[in-house]
Amino acid sequence: MALYSEKVMDHFRNPRNVGVIEDADGVGEVGNAKCGDIMKMYLKIDGDIISDVKFETFGCGSAIASSSMATELIKGRPVAEALELTNKAVAEALDGLPAYKMHCSVLAEEAIKSALDDYYSRKGTAPEEK
Ligand code: FES
Repeated sequence: MALYSEKVMDHFRNPRNVGVIEDADGVGEVGNAKCGDIMKMYLKIDGDIISDVKFETFGCGSAIASSSMATELIKGRPVAEALELTNKAVAEALDGLPAYKMHCSVLAEEAIKSALDDYYSRKGTAPEEK
């Protein structure tokens, strides 16, 4: 079996939503101290919907594929759904990651949460409790 799924390879070679949103409503940057990879996420939010999302990832192929897939999973979706996005869901959407690469998907979850934290702190509110 190949080490990486076709989906991982596809999102690594053709990452979706790469770039910067200059007037973003929330920006989050996270890193992994062990491997040194860094991920930055930009969100544009209209009402309760994530109308646009872009990322910059300085990291391994799995981190790039994870960021790309994570942006696809939350684009056009309600903020509440993005808050619940887990690294497991990102890895599953990529048809799996090798165990020692799961931390790359954690970075994607953390980057989105960090951008949402920034969004809420700019707004001066907290996410609504369910
Ligand atoms: Fe660290 Fe992939 S090796 S994010």
